[in-house]
Amino acid sequence: MTVWGAAAVDGAAAAGTLRVGLRDVVTPLARERARELGVEIVVGAPEPPREPAPVPPPSPLAAAGPASPVRRMRPPSGALFRRGAPLPDAVRPGVAPDARDSGRVVVVGAGNVGTVAALRLAESDVFTEVVLVDVDEGRAAGVALDLAHAAALSGFGTRVRGAGTVEAAGEADFVVVTAGRPRQPGMSRSDLISTNAAIVGDVARRVAATSPRAVIVVVTNPLDEMTQHAWTSSGFPAERVLGMAGVLDTARFQALTALTGVARADRVAAWALGSHGEEMVIPLSQASADGRPLPAVLPGPQLDAIVDRARGSGAEVVGLLRSGSAFLAPGLSAARMVLAMAADSGEVMPAAVLADGSYGIRDVYVGLPARLGRGGVRGIVELDLRPDELTALRAAADRIRERLAGLASVA
Ligand code: NAI
Ligand code: 2OP
Repeated sequence: MTVWGAAAVDGAAAAGTLRVGLRDVVTPLARERARELGVEIVVGAPEPPREPAPVPPPSPLAAAGPASPVRRMRPPSGALFRRGAPLPDAVRPGVAPDARDSGRVVVVGAGNVGTVAALRLAESDVFTEVVLVDVDEGRAAGVALDLAHAAALSGFGTRVRGAGTVEAAGEADFVVVTAGRPRQPGMSRSDLISTNAAIVGDVARRVAATSPRAVIVVVTNPLDEMTQHAWTSSGFPAERVLGMAGVLDTARFQALTALTGVARADRVAAWALGSHGEEMVIPLSQASADGRPLPAVLPGPQLDAIVDRARGSGAEVVGLLRSGSAFLAPGLSAARMVLAMAADSGEVMPAAVLADGSYGIRDVYVGLPARLGRGGVRGIVELDLRPDELTALRAAADRIRERLAGLASVA
């Protein structure tokens, strides 16, 4: 990671373009200088190589997304790239004017996952404010203060604040719900259902009242059921309520596949669909490594073992930690979804979304490939699945539906 300051922009003034890496940090001052000098900051791929290079595989989480890996950031008007980037009105239709001014993300639950998500969201320097909310107000304030102390270290201008209630956080553009109890050893996700349903239902109703135009990303388990519960409790249109699990489960499959040595994790393409649990479906017909179909690269039994391990990765981490559950990859996954939406990227990511008849599934939240934009889910993308994969996906939806029937009696 490189930190680019104003001097680098000065140096790039003659060329008119400053190329930075995807993980680099451009300081607020540098962005301001770029705006003044009319220097374009280009994030992403370096200069095209002179020799023809092999075409990389599509980004696993953007397989059906935009073709270009280069995202151009123009340093235009106002504070967009200066003080934590309130997104301009034009790019956030449907967001109340005061929220447009604030560019606020609220992370409900300042526990492990919420902390990592908030860190990544603040570091991205895209929002004016990140607010952590927790019933333990001191924890929310403490984590927020600690995170705010990292501003100079990470080079962000985003304000970070803690609050004891969703109402005190103020109106948000995006709300990430991590409030709830994490899974303990020996506890299934479904064991959490009644406790977390009460928490998520209450949070969703408060969000609806405080931030009627927000997009809600649910993280709390059991994920698929909690996402549907948040949708019904909020009264929001389905495109503005989605759940994070597939991004994490896909990342786990990518990481585990990379352990075999066939490719780096970020050059493995795959989709984790279905439920966040036993009925997770990773269609191998859609999986590849460095552009080569995975079934042609790894033997079937080894691939099946990787799928099984990915499916059990949450429990594997719980068993190792002995207290609490995974939080690093989960927090990053949730932040990744929010950032894709805030940028109106049109990226396609696996997410818990309300099925719309695609894949022969309707009216239940289940993990499917979804194109994400500023307003949440732009649409569900249909992959060309094998019949057995389609059957497994439909079975996952049926099981979620059954569990939701049980939830109706406790919520
Ligand atoms: P944690 O226990 O570290 O944090 C949860 C926080 O929520 C606590 O600080 C607690 O005080 C707070 N909280 C409880 N009720 C609240 C309320 N009504 N309003 C505001 N805050 C409230 O748990 P962790 O590890 O952060 O996990 C959070 C949730 O995310 C759990 O349900 C966990 O199972 C789930 N999870 C889901 C994943 C996924 O892929 N969807 C991955 C990892 C975790
Ligand atoms: C995970 O998969 C516990 O759902 C959580 O790590």
